[in-house]
Amino acid sequence: MKNYKVGIIGATGMVGQRFITLCSEHPWFHIEVLAASPRSAGKKYSEAVGAKWAMTTPIPEKVADMVVMDATADIKEIAEKVDFVFCAVDMKKDEIKALEEAYAKAECPVISNNSANRHTPDVPMIVPELNSEHAKIIDSQRKRLGTKRGFIAVKSNCSLQSYVPALFPLDEKFGVKDVLVCTYQAISGAGKTFNTWPEMVDNVIPYIGGEEEKSEIEPLKIWGKIEGDEIVPATKPNFTAQCLRVAASDGHMAAVFVRFDKKPSVEEIKEIWKNFKGYPQEAELPSAPKQFLNYFEEDNLPQTKLQRNLEGGMAISVGRLREDTQYDYKFVCLSHNTLRGAAGGAVLMAEQLCNMGYIESK
Ligand SMILES: NC(=O)c1ccc[n+]([C@@H]2O[C@H](COP(=O)([O-])OP(=O)(O)OC[C@H]3O[C@@H](n4cnc5c(N)ncnc54)[C@H](OP(=O)(O)O)[C@@H]3O)[C@@H](O)[C@H]2O)c1
Repeated sequence: MKNYKVGIIGATGMVGQRFITLCSEHPWFHIEVLAASPRSAGKKYSEAVGAKWAMTTPIPEKVADMVVMDATADIKEIAEKVDFVFCAVDMKKDEIKALEEAYAKAECPVISNNSANRHTPDVPMIVPELNSEHAKIIDSQRKRLGTKRGFIAVKSNCSLQSYVPALFPLDEKFGVKDVLVCTYQAISGAGKTFNTWPEMVDNVIPYIGGEEEKSEIEPLKIWGKIEGDEIVPATKPNFTAQCLRVAASDGHMAAVFVRFDKKPSVEEIKEIWKNFKGYPQEAELPSAPKQFLNYFEEDNLPQTKLQRNLEGGMAISVGRLREDTQYDYKFVCLSHNTLRGAAGGAVLMAEQLCNMGYIESK
């Protein structure tokens, strides 16, 4: 059985809490270090997180009394204690870039939920079912950083974790040309609950800072190709996005309109979704959903509340596929934003990188 010591940087945050619940029950990963800002450092975890604990299960016993370390001041000590870290922190972009690079240079692999390094050309942005082969760029990154073990790998933004998986497998055969997408995003995506963001009860806010740009640009890196020491982003499909914050606790829904180079039939699309598998399914990784893309025939499905936890929140739900008058087709899709879209997706990526030998236990 594989066995890795893990650090969670940003352990008191919304994504950090998810990492704690997922790693507490993980067959390969064991929590060795929790770290956050100087505000939390030196406190017991239960005290540091306090009323911010937002998971539906209690704080796992084995982490409640762990003393939180300082994510910046204790880098060297943390890097020595663990095999790799998960990182999800609320800091300025340049500070996050510096923090992640410092861990990598201390020979500690970083699996990141932050956006700071998503466009660094030799940092892979992996959705393990779609572009697991981008892991190869880690060799180039290690050359640049001068490291043997250390590197940074990132997750993409949570908004696109539903529609990109549905579109990606259709591209090879039919060429995905133009995509218009509207997302309906849960409040946990902003690290909030209805208690901490009461203005969101019974409300929709038509703006999420930076989200539309991420939803349009990040897919192109996932579609990109390794050329030399870089991942070169693709130039198509063309994406245009509107992102709305809605009164849901968890789960990002997306309404998608798509035009193809060669229009498939409804049956061909459903068949591709049904049969699509990626590296996590082939390798039977512990967090892999058995069925990645799940099509619902009922007109009123998928629903945020009913389907977000499908296969531990790691599967994608799709429905309402039909022809459109302006595009070829329209459909909706849904994914759990803090599971598949954040911590769960990062855990799956870490499993992939462990399985491929990019992360080794010391
Ligand atoms: N929520 C989502 O669905 C989601 C999805 C994808 C990506 N992300 C990304 O993940 C990251 C974290 O998001 P979140 O929603 O978990 O945020 P959050 O709930 O606000 O948590 C932020 C975390 O960052 C820590 N932190 C703040 N300042 C720090 C500093 N100077 N040094 C070290 N740690 C510091 C906080 O520690 P203290 O408690 O000590 O302040 C806390 O642990 C962000 O980059 C976000 O964009 C979030």
